[in-house]
Amino acid sequence: MRAAAKLAILSVLAASGFSQEPTPRQRAAEAVRDLAAVLQQLLGEEMKRGGVEGAVKSCSETAQVVTEEFAKERELDLRRVSLKYRNQKDQPDDYEAARLKEWEAQIKLGKPPAEHTQTVTENGRRYIRYMKPILVQGVCLACHGPREKLAPEVLEVLDARYPRDKATGYRAGDLRGAFSAIAEVKP
Ligand code: HEC
Repeated sequence: MRAAAKLAILSVLAASGFSQEPTPRQRAAEAVRDLAAVLQQLLGEEMKRGGVEGAVKSCSETAQVVTEEFAKERELDLRRVSLKYRNQKDQPDDYEAARLKEWEAQIKLGKPPAEHTQTVTENGRRYIRYMKPILVQGVCLACHGPREKLAPEVLEVLDARYPRDKATGYRAGDLRGAFSAIAEVKP
């Protein structure tokens, strides 16, 4: 009886594709999900340990490194992007900027943006482009809120490290940016 039940479960799982390799879309979505969780945890820990001043330094030193590590480990392109970027490296490409603008328009109409997936072809190769919106929450305002409301210690770090910072002046609910992943579709 037990063996029969096990067999039945296994055959259902096999039929549903459970035993197959994850699709490029799944790999992209999982990488984004995991990176988001790690960044959120790091921010929480740093805010507890070093307060907002410690956190802004640590975010500036670790965000890029952690994201690059993830991209390498998961064998795909992975970034955070924003129309109003703080780090120059987070400047969106044309494709990403178009999605971000669509989402901003949607939010204005009161519609929460959803994740986006599309297969694109470039130089004869096929890729999955996956993007997930990042919205501003209350906790983000300590470093992304209006400049006049930021603590002087935070402003000092931001001005020193990001002289062309565009990522302030946000309110809760605004679109902050997106996670963007590109995974090759193997022929
Ligand atoms: C303690 C300060 C601090 C807090 C709080 C904070 N951030 Fe940031 N954020 C930064 C810094 C510093 C960078 C630039 C990191 C880098 O150099 O890669 C950044 C960059 C980003 C980026 C990448 C795009 C860009 O502008 O370069 C996104 C997206 C982002 N933050 C979203 C958020 C969200 C969402 C929250 C709230 C959940 C948040 N941040 C809270 C300091 C902070």
